[in-house]
Amino acid sequence: MTNKLKVGVIGLGSMGSTHLDIYSKINDVEVIAIADSIQSRLDGSSKAAGNISGQAEGGVFGLSVKKYLDGMDLINNPDIDIVDICVGTDLHFIFVEAALAKGKHVLVEKPLARTYEEAKKIVQLAQKSSSNIMSAMCLRYWPAWVWLKEAIESEEYGKCLSLNCKRQTSFPGGSFYSSHEQCGGALLDLHVHDTDFINYCFGLPVAVFSQGYKGPSSGIDHVVTNYIFDKKKFSPLVSSEGSWTMQDGYGFDMSYTANFENGTATYLLDEKETLKFFRSGSEPQTIDLKEGMGYEFEIRAFVDEILSGKASNLGLLKQAAETIAIIEAEKISIETCSVISVEA
Ligand SMILES: NC(=O)c1ccc[n+]([C@@H]2O[C@H](COP(=O)([O-])OP(=O)(O)OC[C@H]3O[C@@H](n4cnc5c(N)ncnc54)[C@H](O)[C@@H]3O)[C@@H](O)[C@H]2O)c1
Repeated sequence: MTNKLKVGVIGLGSMGSTHLDIYSKINDVEVIAIADSIQSRLDGSSKAAGNISGQAEGGVFGLSVKKYLDGMDLINNPDIDIVDICVGTDLHFIFVEAALAKGKHVLVEKPLARTYEEAKKIVQLAQKSSSNIMSAMCLRYWPAWVWLKEAIESEEYGKCLSLNCKRQTSFPGGSFYSSHEQCGGALLDLHVHDTDFINYCFGLPVAVFSQGYKGPSSGIDHVVTNYIFDKKKFSPLVSSEGSWTMQDGYGFDMSYTANFENGTATYLLDEKETLKFFRSGSEPQTIDLKEGMGYEFEIRAFVDEILSGKASNLGLLKQAAETIAIIEAEKISIETCSVISVEA
């Protein structure tokens, strides 16, 4: 018998495989069940790929676990403590609802839900539950982005005057990403990372102005947004661009430029990862980053939260929900070519 937390992972695509890899490196947990509606993913004869080096490295070979073709059957397994939901976004709400109803702790991949309405219901269910729950907004745990959040909050380099974030890749393909009804297009699926991080750092914008175009998901697959903050308070110049319409072979990159009163930070992850810091009168600096990806630190933080008996931070969950309200305002802004207030 072990006292390890027992995990069940639902959905063995690129993210389920990434999470399996991370669990295999954490002593305090053991994966005891997996679920996927595709038999070949369940038995390991087919495997999803990631778009960043280090992603999707886990596999199901060698795992002595219960296997289910339907994630709902996994949730009904009484031995499971943590249900890790890595199915497509349109299914997040029903699986979170079912897992919380069974008293499980829940880690749910980003975005929290397909719509703001569903995301709000998840927050309400979490408020009534004694389980821990986390929306896997991995940038909140990604070392270069943790550095940025701290720099903005501490004002160590003065106030942040401007922030521009960008992430671009070629189309991931597959049935989930080909349906904007399921994935929400790059606007929700990819760009949500930056919108959420901006919300996390600066709070809810009062309005957005976005432009974009449709792509292979038939939804908005390339977006550029300006986030408008309350002019009565200090109001930084914040923008972000997200796209999965790059030509095949482009790979993946994510970057930011943050300009502070007393310093400029530039970050780029492509084949390698670099964070540089510039200050007038000083030599340019390369900031040392803790090694590892946000997924790893996020899952460790969730496991530690459960083990220490701490309640989840529902403020952070609510913020992940409100991020979807911002994304929905961005979609209307693109459709109407106008500035749209964010209602959350
Ligand atoms: N944090 C990140 O950086 C990041 C990166 C990629 C994807 N994601 C998110 O992770 C989620 C999954 O993305 P993915 O790329 O792994 O998708 P995917 O389509 O490759 O994998 C999803 C898997 O869920 C399975 N599935 C569907 N219905 C099921 C059911 N009822 N029971 C059991 N299994 C079922 C599918 O067969 C599929 O294998 C999405 O919400 C996506 O937005 C997050």
